[in-house]
Amino acid sequence: MKKINISIVGTGLMGLQHIKAISKSKKANLHSIVDISENAKKLSNKYKIPLYSNVSSLLKANQLDAVIVATPNKLHEKHTISFLKKKIPVLLEKPISHNIKSAKKIIISSKKNKTPLLIGYHRRHNAIVSKVKTIIRSGKLGNIVSANVLCWFYKHMEYFKESWRTTRGGGPLGINLVHDIDMICYLLGSVTYVQAFTTNKTRKYKVEDTATVNLIFESGALCTLNISDTIVAPWSYELTAGENPAYPVTDQSAYLIGGTNGSIQFPNLRYWYYKKERSWWNKILITKDKNKKDDDTLVNQIDHFSDVVFKKVKPKVNGNDGLISLKIFAAIKKSAKTGRRIRV
Ligand SMILES: NC(=O)c1ccc[n+]([C@@H]2O[C@H](COP(=O)([O-])OP(=O)(O)OC[C@H]3O[C@@H](n4cnc5c(N)ncnc54)[C@H](O)[C@@H]3O)[C@@H](O)[C@H]2O)c1
Repeated sequence: MKKINISIVGTGLMGLQHIKAISKSKKANLHSIVDISENAKKLSNKYKIPLYSNVSSLLKANQLDAVIVATPNKLHEKHTISFLKKKIPVLLEKPISHNIKSAKKIIISSKKNKTPLLIGYHRRHNAIVSKVKTIIRSGKLGNIVSANVLCWFYKHMEYFKESWRTTRGGGPLGINLVHDIDMICYLLGSVTYVQAFTTNKTRKYKVEDTATVNLIFESGALCTLNISDTIVAPWSYELTAGENPAYPVTDQSAYLIGGTNGSIQFPNLRYWYYKKERSWWNKILITKDKNKKDDDTLVNQIDHFSDVVFKKVKPKVNGNDGLISLKIFAAIKKSAKTGRRIRV
């Protein structure tokens, strides 16, 4: 099987995960890395791959088929467009960019250069998420009425040594909740209204440490997302999906989705329903899924990216999907500031 040669720009926390995923993929080779850090030199030696100190020098290299951009959000536009202009497909880490204007420029460049752009909302490549999507689509849960998403974890002090994580856009809404926003939109459809509260009371950085967000979907369904990076708890997708070995996995769930005929919780996949009459006075039944947790989500994403590069499929998460979650993110910030509900 022909493999694609991928370079990674930005080999910090996320870039390293991509290096590991590429080494497991049967559809991709690691071509090189681009970074300005001391640590990148160590990675270059460890994985025996060329290191470039900037994108221009990489662009002069041969046999480059595709690139992953995993630099800080403010550099996404500059780095991504420089590849799209050369017709090199990009897997761009989420969020698509640090603001809507910049995100639109990236999308326009992808269209203008007829070059695919895949946004790194990797959860959509998780087998359990695909199963949940199929169950919702099948109508098994009836009409979806409401959803409850918990995103509670405790980030250690070392994490905040990177100063961009304590300033605007570097908080848990932009880093973590955007994943949950993308996922809940993927599962439940378009959002029409957003209302949110945020606080930085515990960590006292310039960004939020905790937020509650309410969404109204076009379908009429409601959803509450509750996030904090300063709560010791097991209930977040990160700590329950088992996708990333950096997070020791718990046997809990983070998502509850409720319909008129049944409810589903996941990643610890369970389906709740009544056999006879639907009544809180009858015993509610449960079906547990026997599937193992999917720990290959990032590899699945790389494999999908390879299929995108070979033009076998369209990106599962395109620039517009990235823009939608960014618009919801902007509406969350506006609502938290003004106290109003915001139309998306
Ligand atoms: N998909 C996910 O689950 C996930 C998780 C974490 C981070 N991310 C995203 O990945 C991106 C990076 O986040 P991170 O946590 O890995 O950050 P990080 O700070 O750990 O890594 C960023 C890397 O970019 C490098 N860099 C900075 N400027 C550069 C430049 N001009 N040229 C080349 N390299 C440069 C830095 O040296 C560093 O190694 C962000 O967009 C973030 O939102 C995604």
